[in-house]
Amino acid sequence: MRNTADWRQPGGPMFYEPDKNDHGLPHAPFKSCIVPRPIAWVSTLSKAGIVNLAPFSQCNILGWDPPYIMFSANTHHDGRRKDSVINAEETGEFVFNMATWALREAVVLTSHIMEPGIDEMAAAGLTPEPSRLVKPPRVKETPISFECRHHQTLVLPCDTPGTATSMVVGRVIGVHIADEVISPTGKIDILKVRPLARMGYLDYTSVTDIFELRPEGTSDRTVIGMSGGKAGVKRAAE
Ligand SMILES: Cc1cc2nc3c(=O)[nH]c(=O)nc-3n(C[C@H](O)[C@H](O)[C@H](O)COP(=O)(O)O)c2cc1C
Repeated sequence: MRNTADWRQPGGPMFYEPDKNDHGLPHAPFKSCIVPRPIAWVSTLSKAGIVNLAPFSQCNILGWDPPYIMFSANTHHDGRRKDSVINAEETGEFVFNMATWALREAVVLTSHIMEPGIDEMAAAGLTPEPSRLVKPPRVKETPISFECRHHQTLVLPCDTPGTATSMVVGRVIGVHIADEVISPTGKIDILKVRPLARMGYLDYTSVTDIFELRPEGTSDRTVIGMSGGKAGVKRAAE
């Protein structure tokens, strides 16, 4: 058994080129360098109207005027695209559901490849809640979800022949936040939500503490601006 010091590269600190994958470690470290990653738990409908639900930790928001959100999916080993990508493109809609600590078992369960004809929300024992502006249902059990309209898919080539990475971008047209997670000060009570996040390997974390960093002299007006503007006022009109 090698001890940890054995992993050091001769001649200096770790440097490797992903094209060569020459890190010498038992597990490629790349995905462990961008952590923690939020998890988009994406619900979609197939053209036949079957509910699909799957987690994607390559996910984030893009701007807020208007808000966009993206998730990224690789293809299956045989080159088939994932159902979430196909459905979002074919129907033009998807829902982002927040993965939380309380729902962690169901999140992982829905990542198992299931045949396209199976309702994955029902199979995971979750409750479909009708959305207001799009057809795919939301996961009732999660406190935060976004209704999204498919905007664009960016297809990135992969080195493995016949495979690709699809970055699916959706415009967020509806935001649901459960009353129980809005604090008396009007902020989202993140400790109550306890979002689940992906680390490298099979490791996860969840948000169990928060702190504020407010540079001296930062006014509440600045904080409102940084948060995306005043309630009921579109930025252009401010
Ligand atoms: C926590 C978690 C995060 C995941 N993140 C991704 C991801 O970012 N990209 C991806 O292609 N697959 C990811 N997967 C695997 C997919 O969820 C899995 O391939 C799923 O079966 C896709 O379902 P679909 O074909 O119904 O879209 C993740 C799995 C888990 C458990």
